[in-house]
Amino acid sequence: AIDITRLRNETGYITYDPGYANTGSCKSDVTFVDGEKGILRYRGYPIEDLAEHATFIETAYLLIFGDLPTRGQRQKFRDLLSEQELLHEGLRHHFEGFPSTGHPMAILSAVINALGCYHPDLLEIDSKADFLRAAAKIISKVRTIAAWSYRKAQGLPFMYPDPKLSYCRNFLHMMHSIPHRHYEPTDAQVRALTLFFLLHADHEQNCSCSTVRMVQSTEANLFASVSAGICALWGRLHGGANAGVIEMLEHIHEGGTSIPDYLEKVKNKECKLMGFGHRIYKSFDPRAKILRKAAHDMLESTGHDDPLLDIALEMADAAMSDEYFIERRLYPNVDFYSGIILRALNIPVNMFTVMFAIGRMPGWIAHWYEAYADGATKIHRPRQVYTGREPRVYVPLDSRI
Ligand code: ACO
Repeated sequence: AIDITRLRNETGYITYDPGYANTGSCKSDVTFVDGEKGILRYRGYPIEDLAEHATFIETAYLLIFGDLPTRGQRQKFRDLLSEQELLHEGLRHHFEGFPSTGHPMAILSAVINALGCYHPDLLEIDSKADFLRAAAKIISKVRTIAAWSYRKAQGLPFMYPDPKLSYCRNFLHMMHSIPHRHYEPTDAQVRALTLFFLLHADHEQNCSCSTVRMVQSTEANLFASVSAGICALWGRLHGGANAGVIEMLEHIHEGGTSIPDYLEKVKNKECKLMGFGHRIYKSFDPRAKILRKAAHDMLESTGHDDPLLDIALEMADAAMSDEYFIERRLYPNVDFYSGIILRALNIPVNMFTVMFAIGRMPGWIAHWYEAYADGATKIHRPRQVYTGREPRVYVPLDSRI
Protein backbone atom coordinates (compact mmCIF):
# COMPACT_ATOMS: atom_id res chain seq x y z
CA ALA A 1 0.00 0.00 0.00
CA ILE A 2 1.25 3.44 -0.86
CA ASP A 3 0.91 6.35 1.53
CA ILE A 4 -0.53 9.05 -0.73
CA THR A 5 1.09 11.82 1.32
CA ARG A 6 4.48 10.50 0.23
CA LEU A 7 3.58 11.07 -3.40
CA ARG A 8 3.36 14.77 -2.78
CA ASN A 9 6.53 16.59 -3.63
CA GLU A 10 7.56 20.21 -3.94
CA THR A 11 5.75 20.62 -7.26
CA GLY A 12 2.51 18.86 -6.32
CA TYR A 13 1.36 15.26 -6.69
CA ILE A 14 3.08 12.66 -8.84
CA THR A 15 1.55 9.47 -10.23
CA TYR A 16 2.85 6.20 -8.84
CA ASP A 17 2.44 3.72 -11.70
CA PRO A 18 4.78 0.72 -11.37
CA GLY A 19 5.63 -0.72 -14.79
CA TYR A 20 3.93 2.35 -16.36
CA ALA A 21 0.85 0.20 -16.99
CA ASN A 22 -1.40 3.28 -17.06
CA THR A 23 0.99 5.93 -18.28
CA GLY A 24 0.95 7.24 -21.84
CA SER A 25 4.56 8.23 -22.43
CA CYS A 26 4.04 9.85 -25.86
CA LYS A 27 1.66 10.46 -28.73
CA SER A 28 2.33 8.22 -31.71
CA ASP A 29 1.01 7.68 -35.25
CA VAL A 30 2.87 4.44 -35.89
CA THR A 31 0.97 1.47 -34.47
CA PHE A 32 -2.49 0.92 -33.01
CA VAL A 33 -3.22 -1.87 -30.53
CA ASP A 34 -6.58 -2.68 -28.96
CA GLY A 35 -5.81 -5.39 -26.41
CA GLU A 36 -9.43 -6.09 -25.54
CA LYS A 37 -10.44 -6.79 -29.13
CA GLY A 38 -7.12 -8.28 -30.27
CA ILE A 39 -6.52 -5.61 -32.94
CA LEU A 40 -3.09 -4.63 -34.26
CA ARG A 41 -2.59 -2.15 -37.10
CA TYR A 42 0.58 -0.66 -38.55
CA ARG A 43 -0.12 2.88 -39.82
CA GLY A 44 -3.83 1.96 -40.09
CA TYR A 45 -3.37 -1.35 -41.96
CA PRO A 46 -4.65 -4.48 -40.16
CA ILE A 47 -1.82 -6.90 -39.36
CA GLU A 48 -3.81 -9.72 -40.98
CA ASP A 49 -3.82 -7.90 -44.37
CA LEU A 50 -0.14 -7.07 -44.19
CA ALA A 51 0.70 -10.65 -43.19
CA GLU A 52 -1.21 -11.95 -46.18
CA HIS A 53 -0.01 -9.54 -48.84
CA ALA A 54 3.07 -7.51 -47.86
CA THR A 55 6.80 -8.22 -47.81
CA PHE A 56 8.96 -7.32 -44.83
CA ILE A 57 10.63 -4.53 -46.77
CA GLU A 58 7.30 -2.97 -47.74
CA THR A 59 6.24 -3.20 -44.11
CA ALA A 60 9.47 -1.58 -42.94
CA TYR A 61 8.92 1.24 -45.43
CA LEU A 62 5.33 1.65 -44.25
CA LEU A 63 6.34 1.88 -40.60
CA ILE A 64 9.17 4.31 -41.20
CA PHE A 65 7.61 6.58 -43.82
CA GLY A 66 3.90 6.28 -42.96
CA ASP A 67 2.58 4.92 -46.29
CA LEU A 68 3.01 1.80 -48.39
CA PRO A 69 5.61 2.38 -51.11
CA THR A 70 4.77 2.61 -54.79
CA ARG A 71 6.57 0.10 -57.02
CA GLY A 72 9.28 2.69 -57.73
CA GLN A 73 9.72 3.65 -54.08
CA ARG A 74 10.00 0.01 -53.07
CA GLN A 75 12.67 -0.65 -55.69
CA LYS A 76 14.63 2.42 -54.58
CA PHE A 77 14.45 1.32 -50.95
CA ARG A 78 15.55 -2.22 -51.91
CA ASP A 79 18.49 -0.84 -53.89
CA LEU A 80 19.50 1.32 -50.95
CA LEU A 81 19.42 -1.69 -48.63
CA SER A 82 21.50 -3.74 -51.08
CA GLU A 83 24.08 -0.94 -51.27
CA GLN A 84 24.40 -0.99 -47.48
CA GLU A 85 24.57 -4.72 -46.80
CA LEU A 86 28.37 -5.07 -46.54
CA LEU A 87 30.15 -4.28 -43.29
CA HIS A 88 33.21 -2.04 -43.16
CA GLU A 89 36.30 -4.29 -43.00
CA GLY A 90 37.23 -2.58 -39.73
CA LEU A 91 33.93 -3.65 -38.27
CA ARG A 92 34.54 -7.19 -39.46
CA HIS A 93 37.56 -7.34 -37.16
CA HIS A 94 35.35 -6.61 -34.14
CA PHE A 95 33.99 -10.14 -34.47
CA GLU A 96 37.48 -11.55 -33.97
CA GLY A 97 37.65 -9.92 -30.53
CA PHE A 98 34.57 -11.69 -29.20
CA PRO A 99 34.95 -15.12 -27.59
CA SER A 100 33.14 -17.88 -29.50
CA THR A 101 30.94 -18.33 -26.42
CA GLY A 102 29.77 -14.70 -26.70
CA HIS A 103 25.99 -14.43 -26.74
CA PRO A 104 24.80 -13.19 -30.16
CA MET A 105 22.56 -10.58 -28.48
CA ALA A 106 25.62 -9.04 -26.78
CA ILE A 107 27.50 -9.06 -30.08
CA LEU A 108 24.55 -7.57 -31.96
CA SER A 109 24.02 -4.66 -29.58
CA ALA A 110 27.77 -3.92 -29.38
CA VAL A 111 28.33 -4.00 -33.14
CA ILE A 112 25.21 -1.94 -33.94
CA ASN A 113 26.42 0.71 -31.50
CA ALA A 114 29.93 0.50 -33.00
CA LEU A 115 28.43 1.24 -36.45
CA GLY A 116 28.26 4.84 -35.27
CA CYS A 117 32.10 4.91 -35.12
CA TYR A 118 32.23 4.12 -38.86
CA HIS A 119 29.62 6.70 -39.80
CA PRO A 120 30.36 9.71 -37.60
CA ASP A 121 28.62 11.94 -40.17
CA LEU A 122 25.35 10.22 -39.21
CA LEU A 123 25.60 10.73 -35.46
CA GLU A 124 23.87 14.04 -36.04
CA ILE A 125 20.88 13.83 -38.38
CA ASP A 126 20.51 17.12 -40.26
CA SER A 127 18.06 16.12 -42.97
CA LYS A 128 15.59 13.46 -43.99
CA ALA A 129 18.22 12.16 -46.44
CA ASP A 130 20.67 11.61 -43.54
CA PHE A 131 18.00 9.78 -41.61
CA LEU A 132 17.20 7.58 -44.59
CA ARG A 133 20.88 6.64 -45.01
CA ALA A 134 21.26 5.81 -41.30
CA ALA A 135 18.02 3.81 -41.25
CA ALA A 136 18.97 1.85 -44.39
CA LYS A 137 22.42 1.07 -42.99
CA ILE A 138 20.95 -0.37 -39.81
CA ILE A 139 18.11 -2.35 -41.41
CA SER A 140 20.46 -3.83 -43.97
CA LYS A 141 23.54 -4.44 -41.82
CA VAL A 142 21.66 -5.90 -38.85
CA ARG A 143 21.16 -9.05 -40.97
CA THR A 144 24.85 -9.33 -41.75
CA ILE A 145 25.87 -8.69 -38.13
CA ALA A 146 23.33 -11.22 -36.83
CA ALA A 147 24.40 -13.94 -39.26
CA TRP A 148 28.09 -13.31 -38.58
CA SER A 149 27.64 -13.52 -34.82
CA TYR A 150 26.26 -17.01 -35.43
CA ARG A 151 29.09 -17.96 -37.83
CA LYS A 152 31.62 -16.73 -35.28
CA ALA A 153 30.12 -18.95 -32.55
CA GLN A 154 30.17 -21.93 -34.96
CA GLY A 155 33.76 -21.28 -36.04
CA LEU A 156 32.53 -21.01 -39.64
CA PRO A 157 33.86 -18.58 -42.26
CA PHE A 158 31.80 -15.42 -42.72
CA MET A 159 29.58 -15.50 -45.79
CA TYR A 160 29.33 -12.18 -47.59
CA PRO A 161 25.85 -10.97 -48.57
CA ASP A 162 24.68 -11.60 -52.10
CA PRO A 163 23.02 -8.48 -53.59
CA LYS A 164 20.98 -10.60 -56.00
CA LEU A 165 19.00 -12.11 -53.14
CA SER A 166 15.92 -10.77 -51.37
CA TYR A 167 16.17 -9.61 -47.74
CA CYS A 168 15.12 -12.93 -46.20
CA ARG A 169 16.94 -15.19 -48.69
CA ASN A 170 20.11 -13.17 -48.20
CA PHE A 171 19.93 -13.59 -44.44
CA LEU A 172 19.43 -17.37 -44.72
CA HIS A 173 22.34 -17.50 -47.19
CA MET A 174 24.67 -15.73 -44.74
CA MET A 175 23.53 -18.07 -41.96
CA HIS A 176 23.66 -21.40 -43.73
CA SER A 177 25.71 -21.30 -46.96
CA ILE A 178 29.22 -22.71 -46.91
CA PRO A 179 31.98 -21.97 -49.43
CA HIS A 180 31.02 -23.51 -52.80
CA ARG A 181 27.60 -24.57 -51.49
CA HIS A 182 24.90 -21.94 -51.70
CA TYR A 183 22.04 -22.58 -49.27
CA GLU A 184 18.73 -22.64 -51.16
CA PRO A 185 15.74 -22.18 -48.86
CA THR A 186 12.33 -23.31 -50.10
CA ASP A 187 9.66 -20.70 -50.92
CA ALA A 188 7.73 -21.90 -47.83
CA GLN A 189 10.75 -21.19 -45.62
CA VAL A 190 11.22 -17.73 -47.09
CA ARG A 191 7.53 -17.01 -46.64
CA ALA A 192 7.66 -18.14 -43.00
CA LEU A 193 10.70 -15.96 -42.26
CA THR A 194 9.05 -12.97 -43.97
CA LEU A 195 5.99 -13.48 -41.80
CA PHE A 196 8.09 -13.83 -38.66
CA PHE A 197 9.91 -10.52 -39.31
CA LEU A 198 6.74 -8.71 -40.40
CA LEU A 199 4.73 -9.72 -37.34
CA HIS A 200 7.53 -8.55 -35.05
CA ALA A 201 8.11 -5.25 -36.87
CA ASP A 202 6.42 -3.00 -34.30
CA HIS A 203 4.26 -3.13 -31.23
CA GLU A 204 3.91 0.44 -29.94
CA GLN A 205 5.33 1.38 -26.53
CA ASN A 206 6.67 -1.99 -25.34
CA CYS A 207 9.78 -2.10 -23.17
CA SER A 208 12.36 -2.03 -25.98
CA CYS A 209 10.55 0.63 -28.02
CA SER A 210 10.15 2.79 -24.91
CA THR A 211 13.86 2.29 -24.24
CA VAL A 212 14.70 3.53 -27.75
CA ARG A 213 12.48 6.57 -27.22
CA MET A 214 13.91 7.18 -23.77
CA VAL A 215 17.49 7.14 -25.08
CA GLN A 216 16.45 9.34 -28.03
CA SER A 217 14.93 11.84 -25.61
CA THR A 218 18.47 12.73 -24.51
CA GLU A 219 19.19 13.53 -28.19
CA ALA A 220 21.34 10.41 -28.51
CA ASN A 221 22.01 9.13 -32.03
CA LEU A 222 20.05 6.44 -33.87
CA PHE A 223 22.77 3.75 -33.57
CA ALA A 224 23.07 4.14 -29.78
CA SER A 225 19.30 4.30 -29.33
CA VAL A 226 18.49 1.09 -31.22
CA SER A 227 21.44 -0.65 -29.60
CA ALA A 228 19.81 0.12 -26.22
CA GLY A 229 16.56 -1.29 -27.63
CA ILE A 230 18.36 -4.57 -28.39
CA CYS A 231 19.55 -4.77 -24.76
CA ALA A 232 16.02 -4.17 -23.47
CA LEU A 233 14.67 -6.85 -25.78
CA TRP A 234 17.09 -9.47 -24.46
CA GLY A 235 15.26 -10.27 -21.20
CA ARG A 236 13.08 -13.39 -20.80
CA LEU A 237 9.95 -11.37 -20.11
CA HIS A 238 10.27 -9.60 -23.47
CA GLY A 239 12.11 -10.83 -26.58
CA GLY A 240 13.89 -13.58 -24.66
CA ALA A 241 10.56 -15.37 -24.14
CA ASN A 242 10.75 -17.14 -27.54
CA ALA A 243 13.88 -19.03 -26.43
CA GLY A 244 12.22 -19.73 -23.05
CA VAL A 245 9.25 -21.34 -24.82
CA ILE A 246 11.42 -23.78 -26.77
CA GLU A 247 13.45 -24.66 -23.67
CA MET A 248 10.18 -25.37 -21.84
CA LEU A 249 8.78 -27.50 -24.70
CA GLU A 250 12.08 -29.40 -25.06
CA HIS A 251 12.12 -30.12 -21.33
CA ILE A 252 8.64 -31.65 -21.62
CA HIS A 253 9.56 -33.53 -24.79
CA GLU A 254 12.65 -35.03 -23.17
CA GLY A 255 10.50 -36.37 -20.35
CA GLY A 256 11.67 -33.83 -17.76
CA THR A 257 8.04 -33.18 -16.82
CA SER A 258 4.50 -33.59 -18.16
CA ILE A 259 2.11 -30.86 -19.34
CA PRO A 260 -0.21 -31.18 -16.29
CA ASP A 261 2.79 -31.17 -13.89
CA TYR A 262 4.28 -28.13 -15.60
CA LEU A 263 0.98 -26.26 -15.39
CA GLU A 264 0.74 -27.14 -11.68
CA LYS A 265 4.17 -25.60 -11.13
CA VAL A 266 3.06 -22.49 -13.00
CA LYS A 267 -0.05 -22.22 -10.82
CA ASN A 268 2.10 -22.63 -7.70
CA LYS A 269 4.15 -19.72 -9.03
CA GLU A 270 7.33 -21.82 -9.23
CA CYS A 271 7.73 -20.76 -12.87
CA LYS A 272 5.90 -18.94 -15.66
CA LEU A 273 4.25 -20.40 -18.69
CA MET A 274 6.59 -18.87 -21.24
CA GLY A 275 4.92 -17.37 -24.32
CA PHE A 276 1.70 -16.76 -22.39
CA GLY A 277 0.24 -13.51 -21.15
CA HIS A 278 0.60 -9.96 -22.37
CA ARG A 279 0.42 -6.54 -20.79
CA ILE A 280 -2.02 -5.32 -23.43
CA TYR A 281 -3.73 -8.31 -25.08
CA LYS A 282 -6.43 -9.66 -22.82
CA SER A 283 -8.48 -11.68 -25.31
CA PHE A 284 -5.91 -12.94 -27.84
CA ASP A 285 -2.72 -11.83 -29.54
CA PRO A 286 -3.52 -11.55 -33.29
CA ARG A 287 0.13 -12.26 -34.14
CA ALA A 288 -0.01 -15.58 -32.27
CA LYS A 289 -3.12 -16.58 -34.24
CA ILE A 290 -1.30 -15.97 -37.54
CA LEU A 291 1.88 -17.71 -36.41
CA ARG A 292 0.04 -20.75 -35.10
CA LYS A 293 -1.39 -21.34 -38.57
CA ALA A 294 1.92 -20.45 -40.28
CA ALA A 295 3.83 -22.97 -38.14
CA HIS A 296 1.30 -25.64 -39.08
CA ASP A 297 1.34 -24.80 -42.80
CA MET A 298 5.09 -24.61 -42.96
CA LEU A 299 5.68 -27.97 -41.30
CA GLU A 300 3.06 -29.52 -43.54
CA SER A 301 4.49 -28.10 -46.75
CA THR A 302 8.08 -29.06 -45.90
CA GLY A 303 7.09 -32.49 -44.60
CA HIS A 304 9.01 -31.53 -41.46
CA ASP A 305 7.52 -33.11 -38.35
CA ASP A 306 8.25 -31.28 -35.11
CA PRO A 307 6.96 -32.97 -31.95
CA LEU A 308 7.32 -29.65 -30.13
CA LEU A 309 4.42 -28.23 -32.16
CA ASP A 310 2.14 -31.00 -30.90
CA ILE A 311 3.26 -30.31 -27.32
CA ALA A 312 2.71 -26.56 -27.82
CA LEU A 313 -0.82 -27.11 -29.18
CA GLU A 314 -1.69 -29.47 -26.33
CA MET A 315 -0.21 -27.07 -23.77
CA ALA A 316 -2.15 -24.11 -25.18
CA ASP A 317 -5.44 -26.06 -25.14
CA ALA A 318 -4.84 -27.26 -21.57
CA ALA A 319 -3.96 -23.77 -20.31
CA MET A 320 -6.83 -22.04 -22.08
CA SER A 321 -9.36 -24.34 -20.45
CA ASP A 322 -7.84 -23.95 -16.98
CA GLU A 323 -9.40 -21.52 -14.46
CA TYR A 324 -6.02 -20.05 -13.43
CA PHE A 325 -5.34 -18.80 -16.97
CA ILE A 326 -8.96 -17.92 -17.78
CA GLU A 327 -9.30 -15.77 -14.64
CA ARG A 328 -6.09 -13.89 -15.39
CA ARG A 329 -6.91 -13.62 -19.11
CA LEU A 330 -3.67 -15.27 -20.16
CA TYR A 331 -3.39 -16.41 -23.81
CA PRO A 332 -0.55 -17.45 -26.09
CA ASN A 333 1.45 -14.45 -27.25
CA VAL A 334 3.57 -14.01 -30.40
CA ASP A 335 6.46 -15.90 -28.83
CA PHE A 336 4.52 -19.08 -28.18
CA TYR A 337 4.63 -20.36 -31.78
CA SER A 338 7.49 -18.38 -33.29
CA GLY A 339 10.19 -20.76 -32.01
CA ILE A 340 8.63 -23.64 -33.95
CA ILE A 341 9.08 -21.64 -37.15
CA LEU A 342 12.65 -20.68 -36.28
CA ARG A 343 13.56 -24.29 -35.51
CA ALA A 344 12.27 -25.34 -38.92
CA LEU A 345 14.59 -22.70 -40.43
CA ASN A 346 17.54 -24.28 -38.54
CA ILE A 347 18.00 -21.20 -36.39
CA PRO A 348 19.61 -22.16 -33.06
CA VAL A 349 17.81 -21.22 -29.85
CA ASN A 350 20.36 -18.63 -28.73
CA MET A 351 19.66 -16.73 -31.99
CA PHE A 352 15.90 -16.53 -31.43
CA THR A 353 15.94 -13.13 -29.74
CA VAL A 354 18.36 -11.85 -32.38
CA MET A 355 15.75 -12.80 -34.98
CA PHE A 356 13.18 -10.79 -33.06
CA ALA A 357 15.58 -7.82 -33.05
CA ILE A 358 16.02 -7.97 -36.84
CA GLY A 359 12.24 -7.91 -37.25
CA ARG A 360 11.70 -5.14 -34.70
CA MET A 361 14.34 -2.82 -36.18
CA PRO A 362 11.95 -0.88 -38.51
CA GLY A 363 9.61 -0.22 -35.58
CA TRP A 364 12.39 1.09 -33.36
CA ILE A 365 13.64 3.30 -36.19
CA ALA A 366 10.13 4.62 -36.92
CA HIS A 367 9.64 5.53 -33.25
CA TRP A 368 13.08 7.10 -32.98
CA TYR A 369 12.32 9.31 -35.97
CA GLU A 370 8.84 10.20 -34.76
CA ALA A 371 10.26 11.36 -31.43
CA TYR A 372 13.20 13.13 -33.14
CA ALA A 373 11.00 14.92 -35.70
CA ASP A 374 8.59 15.99 -32.99
CA GLY A 375 11.37 18.16 -31.59
CA ALA A 376 9.20 19.20 -28.66
CA THR A 377 9.67 15.91 -26.82
CA LYS A 378 10.99 16.46 -23.32
CA ILE A 379 13.76 14.36 -21.87
CA HIS A 380 12.18 11.25 -20.30
CA ARG A 381 12.65 11.50 -16.60
CA PRO A 382 10.15 9.63 -14.39
CA ARG A 383 9.89 10.44 -10.69
CA GLN A 384 9.96 8.01 -7.77
CA VAL A 385 8.42 7.38 -4.40
CA TYR A 386 11.36 7.55 -2.02
CA THR A 387 11.16 4.80 0.60
CA GLY A 388 14.69 5.14 2.08
CA ARG A 389 16.07 6.48 5.36
CA GLU A 390 15.39 9.88 6.87
CA PRO A 391 18.45 12.21 7.09
CA ARG A 392 21.31 10.73 9.13
CA VAL A 393 24.51 12.11 10.64
CA TYR A 394 27.79 10.94 9.02
CA VAL A 395 29.76 8.63 11.34
CA PRO A 396 33.60 8.65 10.91
CA LEU A 397 35.07 5.24 10.01
CA ASP A 398 36.80 4.71 13.38
CA SER A 399 33.57 5.34 15.30
CA ARG A 400 31.44 2.81 13.37
CA ILE A 401 30.42 -0.38 15.08
N1 ACO B 1 2.52 -17.66 -16.59
C1 ACO B 1 1.92 -17.74 -15.39
N2 ACO B 1 1.31 -16.72 -14.78
C2 ACO B 1 1.33 -15.55 -15.44
C3 ACO B 1 1.94 -15.39 -16.70
C4 ACO B 1 2.55 -16.50 -17.28
N3 ACO B 1 3.14 -16.41 -18.47
N4 ACO B 1 1.79 -14.10 -17.08
C5 ACO B 1 1.12 -13.47 -16.11
N5 ACO B 1 0.85 -14.35 -15.12
C6 ACO B 1 0.07 -14.09 -13.90
C7 ACO B 1 0.89 -13.29 -12.89
O1 ACO B 1 1.63 -14.15 -12.06
C8 ACO B 1 -0.18 -12.52 -12.18
O2 ACO B 1 -0.83 -13.42 -11.30
P1 ACO B 1 -1.37 -12.93 -9.85
O3 ACO B 1 -2.47 -11.97 -10.16
O4 ACO B 1 -1.80 -14.17 -9.18
O5 ACO B 1 -0.18 -12.28 -9.20
C9 ACO B 1 -1.19 -12.19 -13.29
O6 ACO B 1 -1.02 -13.24 -14.25
C10 ACO B 1 -0.95 -10.84 -13.94
O7 ACO B 1 0.37 -10.84 -14.47
P2 ACO B 1 1.36 -9.61 -14.48
O8 ACO B 1 2.76 -10.12 -14.24
O9 ACO B 1 0.83 -8.54 -13.56
O10 ACO B 1 1.20 -9.13 -15.96
P3 ACO B 1 2.14 -8.09 -16.72
O11 ACO B 1 1.30 -7.36 -17.65
O12 ACO B 1 2.96 -7.31 -15.74
O13 ACO B 1 3.18 -9.05 -17.50
C11 ACO B 1 4.15 -10.40 -19.15
C12 ACO B 1 3.09 -9.34 -18.84
C13 ACO B 1 5.55 -9.91 -18.70
C14 ACO B 1 4.20 -10.63 -20.66
C15 ACO B 1 3.78 -11.72 -18.41
O14 ACO B 1 2.52 -12.18 -18.87
C16 ACO B 1 4.84 -12.79 -18.56
O15 ACO B 1 5.80 -12.83 -17.78
N6 ACO B 1 4.71 -13.72 -19.57
C17 ACO B 1 5.70 -14.73 -19.79
C18 ACO B 1 6.88 -14.16 -20.59
C19 ACO B 1 6.50 -13.86 -22.01
O16 ACO B 1 5.89 -14.68 -22.72
N7 ACO B 1 6.90 -12.67 -22.48
C20 ACO B 1 6.66 -12.23 -23.88
C21 ACO B 1 5.67 -11.11 -23.92
S1 ACO B 1 5.29 -10.66 -25.55
C22 ACO B 1 6.66 -9.87 -26.13
O17 ACO B 1 7.44 -9.31 -25.41
C23 ACO B 1 6.84 -9.88 -27.56
